[in-house]
Amino acid sequence: MTVLVGYATVHGSTREIAQRIGSRMQAAGVKAEVRPLDAVHEVSGYDAFVVGSAVHDRKWLAAAGDFVRRDIATPGPRPVWLFSVGMPGALRGPWKRLMYKEVPAIEADLATPFAARDHRLFSGVIRPEHLPRRGRLMFRLMGCRYGDHRDWEEIDDWAEQIAKALTHQ
Ligand SMILES: Cc1cc2nc3c(=O)[nH]c(=O)nc-3n(C[C@H](O)[C@H](O)[C@H](O)COP(=O)(O)O)c2cc1C
Repeated sequence: MTVLVGYATVHGSTREIAQRIGSRMQAAGVKAEVRPLDAVHEVSGYDAFVVGSAVHDRKWLAAAGDFVRRDIATPGPRPVWLFSVGMPGALRGPWKRLMYKEVPAIEADLATPFAARDHRLFSGVIRPEHLPRRGRLMFRLMGCRYGDHRDWEEIDDWAEQIAKALTHQ
């Protein structure tokens, strides 16, 4: 059994999450290949997919969106897990709750023709230099905190759940 852990990133935090998921799955006895999605051209050798993208403007990056719609549109019996990397961890109170509500918006835009086993929204890394001036202003008004908000325990748990589902099916 070989699992593709594919990702699309702009600033690297989604790649590191994908690498972490891949190494946790390996440790649990599942062969996982971690690849950037724009370098994946053949999917027939994979038995399952874990696909993730950075979120920009409530959407996945094109490389990841195109991949789920085009390359694995009909995964057949092969299970698919999705993860989004955004910034709920950078926000507080009502803004944070609002951020988790972006999951249906991301899914509506993705319009996957298959049902994923699960879709998680993880927090990533946000730094002032990632944002244009208008974005920095909005960020300040919303009381956002810059930094690395990745919750590695949550990510590890999820990877282990996937490994368990794959080894017990
Ligand atoms: C231009 C821009 C737009 C973003 N838009 C969103 C968004 O709509 N929703 C969200 O949750 N996070 C948003 N983010 C936060 C990123 O998704 C987050 O920083 C993530 O960790 C980036 O992943 P990467 O390091 O793999 O590129 C945005 C970041 C940037 C730079």
